[in-house]
Amino acid sequence: MRCSKCLLCLSALLTLLGLKVYIEWASEARLSKAYPGPRGTPPGPTPASSEPTLPANLSARLGQTGALPSAYWNQQQWRLGTLPSGESTEAGGCQAWGAAAATEIPDFASYPEDLRRFLLSAACRSFPQWLPAGGGGQVASCSVTGVPYLLLAVKSEPGRFAERQAVRETWGRPAPGVRLLFLLGSPAGRGGPDLGSLVAWESRRYSDLLLWDFFDVPFNQTLKDLLLLAWLGRHCPDVTFILQAQDDAFVHIPALLQHLRGLPPTWAQGLYLGEVFTQAMPLRKPGGPFYVPGSFFEGGYPAYASGGGYVIAGRLAPWLLQAAARVAPFPFNDVYTGLCFRALGLVPRAHPGFRTAWPADSATDPCALRDLLLVRPLSPQDSIRLWKHLKDPQLQC
Ligand SMILES: *[C@@H]1O[C@H](CO)[C@@H](O)[C@H](O)[C@H]1NC(C)=O
Ligand SMILES: *[C@@H]1O[C@H](CO)[C@@H](O)[C@H](O)[C@H]1NC(C)=O
Repeated sequence: MRCSKCLLCLSALLTLLGLKVYIEWASEARLSKAYPGPRGTPPGPTPASSEPTLPANLSARLGQTGALPSAYWNQQQWRLGTLPSGESTEAGGCQAWGAAAATEIPDFASYPEDLRRFLLSAACRSFPQWLPAGGGGQVASCSVTGVPYLLLAVKSEPGRFAERQAVRETWGRPAPGVRLLFLLGSPAGRGGPDLGSLVAWESRRYSDLLLWDFFDVPFNQTLKDLLLLAWLGRHCPDVTFILQAQDDAFVHIPALLQHLRGLPPTWAQGLYLGEVFTQAMPLRKPGGPFYVPGSFFEGGYPAYASGGGYVIAGRLAPWLLQAAARVAPFPFNDVYTGLCFRALGLVPRAHPGFRTAWPADSATDPCALRDLLLVRPLSPQDSIRLWKHLKDPQLQC
């Protein structure tokens, strides 16, 4: 009699336990459905490998099979050996690449001005560093500062002083194993005011500005990615991870570090982590945002992580540079990074904690951020408010 009661009790307990496990499983499954990862769509012949490889013929890797395509990018990719290097003077070098694009694309004259400008100079990728007149402002090598576990590489623009200062005062503060650098183009803008002396002061004051001598416009963002990779090769080859973010992002550094430290080693080695788009297609509305003419690019985009903020493994830096020499230029830097990863046979990993289009009304709610890794866009004021709330020992969620 007694024991049957025991059994009843035990089976009730087991049922409850099963229910709890199911609920946890179901809520995790819901999260991952909202952010479909690329697991089902491995590109190329080496799916989900964490070892980069670069085959002699990239066409198949990049999905370029079948008959010769008619769009310019696709044709270029089909034929491309390597892009002319910045140093090369043979047959006009990088300028000649752009000039050829202008004559070979039948409706080039109807392209938006920034896209025409992009194509004319897209193969020109080596630019000298911009340094303040009168010295100072050198960014120290990692052999001097110590090799960071996580490098925060924040894309900014010369005039965005407040955004940079907000990052320095909040999530970009000095922390063990973490180093902050900003990536910028020339402070002498095209047709704008000359911010050279202000940026020079800032550069000497903080020594965290990597500046290069090119126009800082959206279609030149890929230059920041590539010039950073080249800088790392020389000055910080052993960095473990690199966070690429915009200056209006807010990063929950402790949560990000915890996530990175917990990654399986095979993932960590080929890491490309962020908010991943797997089925994106070019937008064809002339005059609209992110417009891409059909005569320039056909087909879908590779799986790529949103450029608002993503993390890559430091050891991939030289590989990405090699891939970029053989992947035809594309105007959007995050799509281009996706193409380079695809060329290497690596896939992006989606994480629901990266929210690069965060609703503005969540921006001041510290509880909404607690389980996230990176959100944007935030104003400098909102970043500071959020930081204060997060540091508040009284915070209750
Ligand atoms: C590269 O690969 C594509 C697709 O597999 C093939 O059609 C093309 O002939 C190859 N090109 C060269 C130069 O081998
Ligand atoms: C990028 O910078 C280079 C060098 O300053 C410039 O020639 C080019 O026009 C810029 N690209 C765009 C799209 O403006």
